[in-house]
This record gives sequence, C-alpha cells and structure tokens, in this order.
Amino acid sequence: MGTSRRIQVGIVGCGPAGLLLSQLLHVNGIESVILERRDRAYVEGRIRAGVLEQGTVDLLRAAGVAGRLEREGLVHGGIEIAGAGERIRIPLTDLTGGKVVTIYGQTEVTKDLIAARLAAGGEIVFEAEDVQPLDYDTDRPRLTYRKDGETIELACDFIAGCDGFHGVCRASLPEGAIQTLERVYPFGWLGVLAKAPPASDELIYAHHENGFALFSMRSATLSRNYLQCRPDEDLTEWPDARVWDELRLRVGDSDGSLVNEGEVLEKSVVPMRSFVAEPLRHGRLFLAGDAAHIVPPTGAKGLNLAASDIHYLHRALIAHYKHGDDSGLDGYSQTALARIWKAERFSWWMTSLLHTFPDTRAFENRMQLAEIEYLLASKAAQTSLAENYVGLPF
Ligand code: FAD
Ligand code: PHB
Repeated sequence: MGTSRRIQVGIVGCGPAGLLLSQLLHVNGIESVILERRDRAYVEGRIRAGVLEQGTVDLLRAAGVAGRLEREGLVHGGIEIAGAGERIRIPLTDLTGGKVVTIYGQTEVTKDLIAARLAAGGEIVFEAEDVQPLDYDTDRPRLTYRKDGETIELACDFIAGCDGFHGVCRASLPEGAIQTLERVYPFGWLGVLAKAPPASDELIYAHHENGFALFSMRSATLSRNYLQCRPDEDLTEWPDARVWDELRLRVGDSDGSLVNEGEVLEKSVVPMRSFVAEPLRHGRLFLAGDAAHIVPPTGAKGLNLAASDIHYLHRALIAHYKHGDDSGLDGYSQTALARIWKAERFSWWMTSLLHTFPDTRAFENRMQLAEIEYLLASKAAQTSLAENYVGLPF
C-alpha cells in the first residue's frame, strides 16, 4: 500500500455531477477530491447535452461558475414541434409564468467547472486507475486508486458515486442492495455537429414517418442536429449529403429554406434507454447523476437531473457538517427519486410521442398521430409539456 490520507467527501467521476458537487461543497467550506478515470482533454471534449433548466443555471450561479454561461448562453422562451404536416411554436415562457431554458453545451459547463475547481486549489485526479469504493457500509469508508504505479488510499466521511452509467460505484454494491428498472428503446440518435447556422432561432422537435429529428444548436454559427437511427447504426452509411437530405425531409423543408448545410465537425450514435436504480444510498455511498439513472435525451433532462440530484445531496452534506443534521442524508434517496421519476416519465412520454417504433401496428400509429395533433392544437397539452420541459421545481 502507498500513501493514505483523510478527506471529507470522496467523489468518483469528473462529469457535471461530480464537478458541481465538489464546487458547491467547496463554496460552503467542505473539501473533496475527485477521482476520474479519463484524462482532462477527453472529459472536456465529450459532446453531450445542450439545454439547461433554470434550476441548473441557478445552481451553477450558486457555485460561482455562471459568468461565461450568462454571457454566451442562448436564452430560449419556446420550442417548435413539427408533425402531422404542421410546425408550431410552444411558448414555454408564456405557459410557465415566465420560465426559460438556456442553450449552453455540456462541454462548456464541464470546462467552466474544472477551471473553477483548479483555480480554487481543488484536487481532481485525472487518469486515476482501478478506483475502488470500500467499506462504505461502515462509518469509515475508503477509496483506493492507482496513479503512476502507486496505490493511494483516501479515507473519507462519505463517497459520492458520480461516475456515470458504466461507473464502478453502483457496480460495487452487494447483490440485492439496489434494484434497477429499465427500458431499452429499439432506436438511437445519430448526432451531427456542424459549422452552420441553426435551422431556427429555437429548437425544433420533428416527428416524421422515417423517424424523429431534432434541430438544436450550440451558438448562432454551430448547429447540433439529430436523426433517429438504428441503435447499432453504421456511420459509414451516413455520408454528409444523406444526413442533410434526411434532416430536410423529416422537418418538411421541401424548398431547402430552413436547414443550413455546413462543414460536419462530429458525428456519433447515442443509444436510448430509461434506467433507474433504487435506492440511491447504501451506507455512506451516495449515487447521483447517470450513475443512478438514465433518460432518453428527447426531453433534454440528463444533465439537468444530474444537477437536481446534486442540489439535494450538497444541501444534505452541508446540513451534516454545519448543523449535525442527518435528515437530508437520510431523505436523499426518497427526495431525489420523487423528482427523477417525474423526469423519467416526461422523457419516456416525449420519446414515445415523437419517434417511430418498428413493428407497431396501425392502431398504435393512429394513437400517436392523434396525440401529436392534440398537442399541436391544445393549450392544455402544451402547458403540460412546457411545465416539464423548463424543469419541475426542486
Ligand atoms: P457523466 O457525464 O457520465 O460523468 C461520469 C464520469 O465518471 C465520467 O467522466 C467518467 O469517465 C467517470 N468514470 C466512469 N467510471 C469511472 C471509474 N471507474 N473511475 C473513475 N471515474 C469514472 N443528455 C441530454 O440532456 N441531452 C443530450 O443530447 C445528451 N446526449 C448524450 C450523449 C451520450 C453519448 C451520453 C452518454 C449521454 C448524453 N446525455 C444527454 C446525458 C448527459 O450527458 C448525462 O446525463 C450527464 O453527462 C450526466 O452527468 P454525470 O456527471 O452524472 O455523468
Ligand atoms: C442538444 O442540443 O444536444 C440537445 C437538445 C435538446 C435535446 C437533446 C439534445 O432534447
């Protein structure tokens, strides 16, 4: 065994969940160390989510990292839905008493948080190998890892498993400690980042018989678009010209006036699943973010759910350290799961509404079209979508 030392909170995973937790604890005088398997460039370069709820923006502000987000983020007060031969705007702000969403890439959130952590002297161990959470069912949990050939031990008060869907924390739990509930969808998304102005000022979610399409953005000159595809889609079958043709077709852009073409900078396939682990706590190990749950990206909830878990978890840890009050830690799993299940429901609903499902029968197809037509015409249906899309309260 190499070196050993004590810290308050040991965090596994340097994604948005782990970083936000570490920074919010630091602002409140609680110190942590983040152990991350990959290197910094990889973590900062991973292109993923793009839509932030107001609650997520507020948390980033409380963490002291919202400066660039406030300057560069695009504030949106609506989204568009295309389907059944129509395209309408859902006025999110009008339907929710003034709420908005902010377009700001997960890559940028991650860069801002890493910069803030390091500037404040925070410790992030990149390329930490073989991270092991140990003894978390006692009051002396430990994390061990290898770095540059040396084995290092961190004796922690608590361990936060923020290590994503494929992480080690959930996987290390003893048989029977948690149950997992899951739905895997029979499709994926082909994501395309391109140097081209976005199709519209706001996001467009489109239903088409060939499949779903989404027109999103990262800035006024960078578009981020998605096409429903097979979960094992072969990218070589998607030369750029086919991508642009299919995007135009699915959004009904028959004269080419909507979709702007440009240099394709990145192309990848995202699998789609709904997944929840229950409960989120075992002894002194707490799961948060993708380590605990996955949503299909249709409702833009993945990153926002990671943030709301951290909202509950950081407050619970602060109450423990500042007031000796453990009620927040004891209630964390139940409180966080109540919100998680509502976001799971919304993401599942929006996915089911807008994608084509292989092998569905005529009846289901008619039901889906009827529901889209209802949404396009009903203020009540749009209000329900809007309330969930901007984010339910914490
Ligand atoms: P992550 O961001 O996954 O971070 C976990 C971190 O833990 C990673 O850095 C990982 O390297 C590290 N780690 C894993 N195992 C170990 C280990 N054993 N030891 C140490 N470190 C470890 N959401 C949306 O809302 N919209 C989208 O368009 C969207 N697209 C996505 C595309 C992809 C391919 C994926 C995987 C997710 C996407 N999501 C999207 C979801 C969103 O990105 C996640 O919900 C969000 O990243 C969750 O943050 P997190 O910190 O919980 O987990
Ligand atoms: C994105 O911009 O990557 C994005 C936006 C909205 C979604 C999913 C992804 O629902």
